[in-house]
Amino acid sequence: MNIDSNRKDEHVELAEKQYQSHSKSDFQKVRFVHHSFPQMATDDVSLETDLLGQQMPLPFYINGMTGGSEKTKEINQQLAEVAKACGLVMASGSVSAAIKNPEVEDSFRIIREVNPNGIVLANLGAHHTIENAKKAVDILEADGMQIHINAAQELVMPEGDRDFSMWLKQIEDIVANLGVPVMVKEVGFGMSQETIRQLINVGVQWIDVSGTGGTNFAAIENARRTTFSFDDLENWGQSTVLSLIEAGGVNKQAHILASGGIKTPYDIVKALSLGAEAVGLSGQFLHMVVNDGPEKTIETVRTWKEKIIAIMTLLGKKTIKELQQTDLIFHRDLIDWCDMRSID
Ligand code: FNR
Repeated sequence: MNIDSNRKDEHVELAEKQYQSHSKSDFQKVRFVHHSFPQMATDDVSLETDLLGQQMPLPFYINGMTGGSEKTKEINQQLAEVAKACGLVMASGSVSAAIKNPEVEDSFRIIREVNPNGIVLANLGAHHTIENAKKAVDILEADGMQIHINAAQELVMPEGDRDFSMWLKQIEDIVANLGVPVMVKEVGFGMSQETIRQLINVGVQWIDVSGTGGTNFAAIENARRTTFSFDDLENWGQSTVLSLIEAGGVNKQAHILASGGIKTPYDIVKALSLGAEAVGLSGQFLHMVVNDGPEKTIETVRTWKEKIIAIMTLLGKKTIKELQQTDLIFHRDLIDWCDMRSID
């Protein structure tokens, strides 16, 4: 097995080993205010939302994870079965492995084979050229592209990149020339208002803030290291909640999406109430397909739909857009962050 395939297997194994059922993404620091008259029925709720210009029946998606080895091909197959049965958008993991080694292309193509009519996104790191991005889209017959920005992960990864000087330029080139919509995402370290502004300035319209609190790639890469470990970086970054608060300061010039530590319908509704237009889950979907299999995961997703409808009804909100007008109470820690960062 080559180094890329090996790394992909290790990421999946370590993510699952480090999985925790409770999010540390600050969602517990955000509370809803209960009002006793919803003034609507559950049938009034529409969960539809727009993602990369495509109408989705549910406001959450399977976020970029894997591919590049035999084992991850099987996981992609199971995730794609869930995506197909539930009408979820699904992103692949970084297609970089297949660009370097065409022998592993089938571990990505399986996503399209299982779900020929679904909405599928390819995924690559920000150091890739427009030519590679086009190849990745071709391999998956993808409807859109995720570009991940992961400087913190690369620096802890023993074999990771060390030069990030061209990332914004490469992103600008890809967004302008790829021909399919592009989403730029973090990988669980969150984003600041400044980062989001820089992305908007190079033409990015779809931004997944992917904050801390769920899968922790500093911890995953530390576990792969054989020399010293970067323990301090395991607490690096902004939670998903703080990242959404940061995004709120940028005045809706882009479509904001959320991921990082989202595990329950309650987390999903909170992220949507904080301004996300849709919500991505990685570690939670991995945990469910690996432990429960695709059939049971599909059942769970169906119960999530009912639960989201129930919570939205209690909040008196009929649409994902309306959720952004929800009354929220913030823990002091979050207010302190806003004060220090001059966010209203
Ligand atoms: C990831 N993630 C990821 N992201 C990306 O853009 N490209 C990738 O190849 C991968 N690979 C990957 C592997 C595994 C096993 C996991 C669990 C995750 C990061 C992912 O999309 C997401 O940003 C973070 O995991 C935070 O979300 P969760 O896992 O807390 O829901």
